[in-house]
Amino acid sequence: MTQAITGKSIRKPSPPWTSADVRTDFPILTSTDRPVAYLDNAATSQKPDAVIAATARYYKSMNANIHRGVYRLSVEATEAYESARAKIAAFIGAPHPREVIFTRGCTEAINLVAMTWGLQNLKAGSTIVLTQMEHHSNIVPWQMVAARTGARIVVTPVSPQGELDLAAYERLVADGAALVAVTHISNVLGTINPVAELAQIAHRHGALILLDGAQSVAHMPVNIAELGCDFFAFSGHKMCGPTGIGALWARGDLLDAMPPYQGGGDMISTVSFEGSTWNIVPHKFEAGTPDIAGAIGLSAAVDYLSRLEMARIAAVEADLLASAEKALRTIPGLRIIGEARQKASVISFLLDGIHPHDIGTILDQEHVAVRTGHHCCQPLMDYYHIPATARASLAFYNTPADIDALVSGLHRVIEVFR
Ligand code: ALA
Repeated sequence: MTQAITGKSIRKPSPPWTSADVRTDFPILTSTDRPVAYLDNAATSQKPDAVIAATARYYKSMNANIHRGVYRLSVEATEAYESARAKIAAFIGAPHPREVIFTRGCTEAINLVAMTWGLQNLKAGSTIVLTQMEHHSNIVPWQMVAARTGARIVVTPVSPQGELDLAAYERLVADGAALVAVTHISNVLGTINPVAELAQIAHRHGALILLDGAQSVAHMPVNIAELGCDFFAFSGHKMCGPTGIGALWARGDLLDAMPPYQGGGDMISTVSFEGSTWNIVPHKFEAGTPDIAGAIGLSAAVDYLSRLEMARIAAVEADLLASAEKALRTIPGLRIIGEARQKASVISFLLDGIHPHDIGTILDQEHVAVRTGHHCCQPLMDYYHIPATARASLAFYNTPADIDALVSGLHRVIEVFR
């Protein structure tokens, strides 16, 4: 908006947007047929119109296979797919688009590293450092590699508040670790780990570090260069993009040296029955027809989040978290699991004497969607000696009304079960 003052036209700063301003971008959140206070954003985010439209546009007006055709549609689809790669690289501060490999999601990105870099570099006696708060997707692939190579897994402990024990971490890494694999933000505790410091410690002792960014890319500014990691894995569907698309970023020199992940079309340079040679990075890691529509949808999600600005998203979510935690603490018998000093908008909780699944079921009847269970973090549940939690995970489009719905839903749970 412009305004004439003293003969000059100046730009008036637009007021910072609020949750209510952006909520209307999400058709599912404004549907009157099925009203819902959607508080399961750590599982998957909702999708704005811009992402849904970009995906439909690809199928309606550009659908063709990529890297294969000389005809116009194929060239356009290839350009859209490769420009999505460049946009995503810029969004995470990656030095070069070729270092971004499209995958099905964060899980596949971690499996890719385990089955390529891991099988090539780990051997009997190698150490992989994990943490007590890892998601199964950052545990099981390493167990599979350890079983095949003889590598061993060691685990960084957490404190009851849900913070990593940094002194123990350094001791484990200093004991000759080859790789650290750690989550940037815990999907259960909300803890934001000090990953730049963890990376410095890993590198000081000669280890590489992989970050599971599934819970961070949609909630805070992420800059690979500043984090100083070697591998960064994330999913599109948790950042307003489609399901079935995600990415691995890795240092270019590591990718060049890693063997391919899967064999097939597009990942080869030459094929004969005597043997095959590999395409250059990133194509070496993208066998077969990729999720072209997904990459284009993810690119639209990155545009959408960039317009809102990640720093503003983080600030809006920090306010929501503070008011949600304050309101939850007034509920009798409610205990929050995860009270780290640096915390993202994830609240796991227990209600005295009431099973989390019962909490989830009654909340659903009250049109409040939360996740209940072990959240794919059974070792973390074991640490707290609990089978499960209920978890409300917030996004920038959640409003104070969603928090009110959660709180009154929990009072209803108490009425039913106590
Ligand atoms: N990892 C996702 C969650 O925490 C699915 O819910």
